[in-house]
Amino acid sequence: MDTKSRLIAKAADRSALFGVVGLGYVGLPLVVELAAARYGVVGFDVNDTVVRGVNSGRSHIQDVSTERLAELVSSGLVTATSSMERLTEVDVISICVPTPLSKTKDPDVSYVIAAADSIGRTIRAGQVVVLESTTYPGTTRELLLPMIEKRGLQVGKDVFLAFSPERVDPGNPTWQTRNTPKVVGGVTENCRDVVLALYEPAFDTLVPVSSPESAELVKLLENTFRSINIGLVNEMAIVCDKLGVDVWEVIEAAATKPFGFMRFTPGPGLGGHCIPIDPHYLAWKMRGLNYRTRFIDVASEVNSEMPAFWVRKVAERLNDDGKAVKGSKVLVLGVAYKRDIDDVRESPALDIIRLLLQQGAEVSYHDPYVPEVVEDGARLQSVQLTGEELKNSDCVVIVTDHANIDFQVVASNAQQVVDTRNALKRGGRG
Ligand SMILES: NC(=O)c1ccc[n+]([C@@H]2O[C@H](COP(=O)([O-])OP(=O)(O)OC[C@H]3O[C@@H](n4cnc5c(N)ncnc54)[C@H](O)[C@@H]3O)[C@@H](O)[C@H]2O)c1
Repeated sequence: MDTKSRLIAKAADRSALFGVVGLGYVGLPLVVELAAARYGVVGFDVNDTVVRGVNSGRSHIQDVSTERLAELVSSGLVTATSSMERLTEVDVISICVPTPLSKTKDPDVSYVIAAADSIGRTIRAGQVVVLESTTYPGTTRELLLPMIEKRGLQVGKDVFLAFSPERVDPGNPTWQTRNTPKVVGGVTENCRDVVLALYEPAFDTLVPVSSPESAELVKLLENTFRSINIGLVNEMAIVCDKLGVDVWEVIEAAATKPFGFMRFTPGPGLGGHCIPIDPHYLAWKMRGLNYRTRFIDVASEVNSEMPAFWVRKVAERLNDDGKAVKGSKVLVLGVAYKRDIDDVRESPALDIIRLLLQQGAEVSYHDPYVPEVVEDGARLQSVQLTGEELKNSDCVVIVTDHANIDFQVVASNAQQVVDTRNALKRGGRG
């Protein structure tokens, strides 16, 4: 039996052992879905605390319940380790490490390179490597393929290499790792077929594409599409503000058109590890090819100006009451980058807090999911959301419309409210 057939047989009887590198928002849900499909999974992470937590069945990721993880750990299907040498034990390696931006907004692929180095030291014939981290087109072929080939292994025959973008949407109650269609692009047809066979038991729908570059670009198109459309409605919010028109009414009415319109909503700006970052991976790649991705640049410019727009609104509301920003008490409601999650990475709330602190406001915040934030050297702890707290604040800024915040209480107690999400009118509903 050749290596490809052997791996496909191991998928069929679930004897293939998976290794998931990086046990964060993306990696841990993947571990759980693979194990739920009855594969054995070894989770690899450089963070010992994460490894200890997983081995004791404790989940640090909101979308994975401790109950579900604990059951898979105690049944022996899931273990975790920080010993990268153990990568040699597994049949399939799925890489889910971070891909942030550098300070100059260029891709920081150092985590992918570190993971590739670990794999390069241990890779052997019969293994499959799948990159899941969002990245620029060409990463799989430029960073991962050489480290396999330099070991004298032939891709598509001895080992198999593919890109399959993770599309998880943290906090989404409907679309999760298993039922979100999974795109797979292999370096060769054999690579693609092997990965499709191995992933088939864990995902409801698989979407093969012809190359890793296509698969890499699929993910960037999706997130660039969101970034640009959010940029458009954010600009529409500024336009409506200048015209004295209610942007939410305009959007709701436009969304009644049964075709040709898709509802996006304005807000405080972009946040999270995806939408504010991923389009810059594409822009960077294209700059190297002497092409400027203008839509990406304009959307990024508009979206990153939103925190300052909302801070100006706070200043206007305070001015209505004859107050200056300096010395006023401003309560920020919600610091997570979106509703019902605990992630503050790139959250526009942090920009809003920083701008308010720089202007001398006394800033406090409430977020049921985030006990503490550090911004601009200030360490803030979430305060209780009481009528007293609301009454004592000169202005409340609603940044994240968590479903468990009672916006009626906010409306009836706050002196002034700046509502970046239209939460008051919606009563906090999505
Ligand atoms: N968070 C999301 O909503 C989301 C959605 C889709 C795709 N993605 C993409 O998935 C990738 C991972 O994002 P995330 O949000 O899960 O990141 P994360 O920071 O939550 O988790 C990454 C984990 O990788 C570990 N790690 C870092 N370097 C490592 C190495 N060399 N070896 C082993 N472990 C290592 C870290 O300790 C951490 O636990 C990124 O490329 C991101 O763009 C994220």
